[in-house]
Amino acid sequence: MKISPKIQKQAAQLRETINEHNYYYYVLDDPLLPDSEYDCLMRELQALEEKYPALITPDSPTQRVGATPLSTFSEVVHAIPMLSLGNAFKDEEVQDFDKRARARLAIDSIEYAVELKLDGLAVSLRYENGLLVTGATRGDGQSGEDVTQNVKTLKTIPVRLRGDDYPRVLEVRGEVFMPKAGFNKWNQQKIAAGEKVWANPRNAAAGSLRQLDASRTANRPLRFLSYAIGEVEGGDLPNRHSDILQRLQAWGLPISKYSEVVKDTQACLDYYQQILEQRDSLPFEIDGVVYKINQINQQETLGFVSRAPRWAIAHKFPAQEVLTQVVDIDVQVGRTGALTPVARLAPVNVAGVTITNATLHNQDEINRKDVRVGDTVIVRRAGDVIPEVVRVLPKKRPKNTQPYVLPKKCPVCDAEVVRIKGEAVVRCTGGLFCAAQRKQALQHFASRRAMEIDGLGEKLVEQLIDKDLVKSIADIYTLTHEQWAGLERMGKKSADKIMKALEKSKSTTLARFLYALGIREVGESTARILAQHFISLDKIMEATETDLVKIPDIGPVAAQYVVAFFKESHNMEVIQRLQAAGVHWVENEAAPSKAPALAGQTFVLTGTLISMPRRTAKARLEALGAKVSGSVSKKTNYVVAGEKAGSKLTKAQDLGVKVIDEDEFVALLEISPSP
Ligand code: IVH
Repeated sequence: MKISPKIQKQAAQLRETINEHNYYYYVLDDPLLPDSEYDCLMRELQALEEKYPALITPDSPTQRVGATPLSTFSEVVHAIPMLSLGNAFKDEEVQDFDKRARARLAIDSIEYAVELKLDGLAVSLRYENGLLVTGATRGDGQSGEDVTQNVKTLKTIPVRLRGDDYPRVLEVRGEVFMPKAGFNKWNQQKIAAGEKVWANPRNAAAGSLRQLDASRTANRPLRFLSYAIGEVEGGDLPNRHSDILQRLQAWGLPISKYSEVVKDTQACLDYYQQILEQRDSLPFEIDGVVYKINQINQQETLGFVSRAPRWAIAHKFPAQEVLTQVVDIDVQVGRTGALTPVARLAPVNVAGVTITNATLHNQDEINRKDVRVGDTVIVRRAGDVIPEVVRVLPKKRPKNTQPYVLPKKCPVCDAEVVRIKGEAVVRCTGGLFCAAQRKQALQHFASRRAMEIDGLGEKLVEQLIDKDLVKSIADIYTLTHEQWAGLERMGKKSADKIMKALEKSKSTTLARFLYALGIREVGESTARILAQHFISLDKIMEATETDLVKIPDIGPVAAQYVVAFFKESHNMEVIQRLQAAGVHWVENEAAPSKAPALAGQTFVLTGTLISMPRRTAKARLEALGAKVSGSVSKKTNYVVAGEKAGSKLTKAQDLGVKVIDEDEFVALLEISPSP
């Protein structure tokens, strides 16, 4: 059907008007129209598009929900890792943070951008030529899930940027969250429908965003606020974080109206107090405030350590505390055999979360607090942290209570428990004979970030161990279809599925495999560092403690555990059996996305670069896996000296660190294959 220019113009105008209203409503929080009139405009556009489908453009406001449900989320490797934040709980910690930063920057005072710490989930939105092309969750910081279809359904997220002066590539990072009102309303509906309620708005946001069927995300009351940027190319941004946020807002991205710029730490602490007082009356949950050094060049000088920037810190609000009763004390046996006493509590609600358990840590802690069954206690919950018993109210103690003593035998396998000198915990000596330890080890092995064996959840693991089908984690690959199908709540189909998942898990990366082994002190990040450094498992097995501690970010304790792990013949046997079963990875490529060309290399940028702003140089290096540091040391691999390079260049020459000029640097970027 031919569409007249008049109709075309009408549709374009409607789209523009609606987008404009969205901007005023969601970004500026200053609606120009009553909701009913806005709805009228939307219906008008829908009617037109229905009549003339050729009018539909991908960025039309009617097209937010359109995709068919997915079967799984694909992985998105972040061009620039998504960092987390260090925490401060006390004023002094904030002052120390500021002192360290001032010392490193050699300046007297620092300007801070202060913001709310939103309690939702971090996402990265990638715009290319002004169009939203990818939305991804933070995941482990290196890679997350592709939730593009889902983020598109959020009306607070523009599908197309406003104006025409945005960079060609712009990654915007921020938080997706569910305001308190929407959370309460949805939970009421869930109760009415007899469904399980969400524990807190953060879970609600995560659960609502990560829907394979994006049309389900569309009707959840989710919001988004921007607070950072990732990769930027083809365009420059201002040199202050607060100005960058203003630019984002001008391009149509929502920013928080509670952000401010302050001149020193005292003003940061004042902001903290002021927000703390408003906390309960805010429309959404926050768990603290964030202080960011406002000047981007200062941020760049400071760089980051491990996973957190040296130029920002979260100042957390005090944990919320409530009174309840200890109904019982149980003992849990962890993956490493540690016995942890857990208080079972009369259910209480703390800031919207129902608490029924609290950790008592260890015998010393129990003794110190003298917690007994029957006691009235104060429990505290702080963000993610497991709730804990703060103290007992002795006046409320019933008569005839007994001090609590941990059992002398493991409650699961009856083996002796021991307390190693210098350690606070007692451990079961049953090792992998202890079902509790085997369960945890297997569950960890199968988990999403480890071998990712889909469908092998807690219930199945329990059966496998209880029925003695799995004595060592390597047994998991030798179970027959018949054995799987014979388990409770399993059938032929589920057995097919799990066998497939097992087969798929065999093709993995060295980093995941190392992490899956459950070596003490080897978390995901350490596993990744080891894999990137050594590239092959054999080399890791041969490494001595001295070799290991030379690697940045590997401490002496982790080094000791790594060496001890590979010395143990039982562990070597498990590894051989796993490899014999077909578990493999590409050694010389060491997981292409995880070990890009410049992994493990530390760069220092100094002087002025002509061909690109320093921010871009840094971003490109980081995208290739390199670390960009603000100061030269013996561990620096390259110093890139631009024009008018000063003291850092001299220091590099003194230390004998390799110095390259801008041309060599650009050439290096070009020859390094991107991940
Ligand atoms: S900035 C490089 N700003 O906190 C710094 N994060 O602990 C990147 N968060 O994963 C984060 N509010 O989910 C930043 N105003 C804010 C924030 C914020 C909440 C979350 C975010 C991040 C986590 C870090």
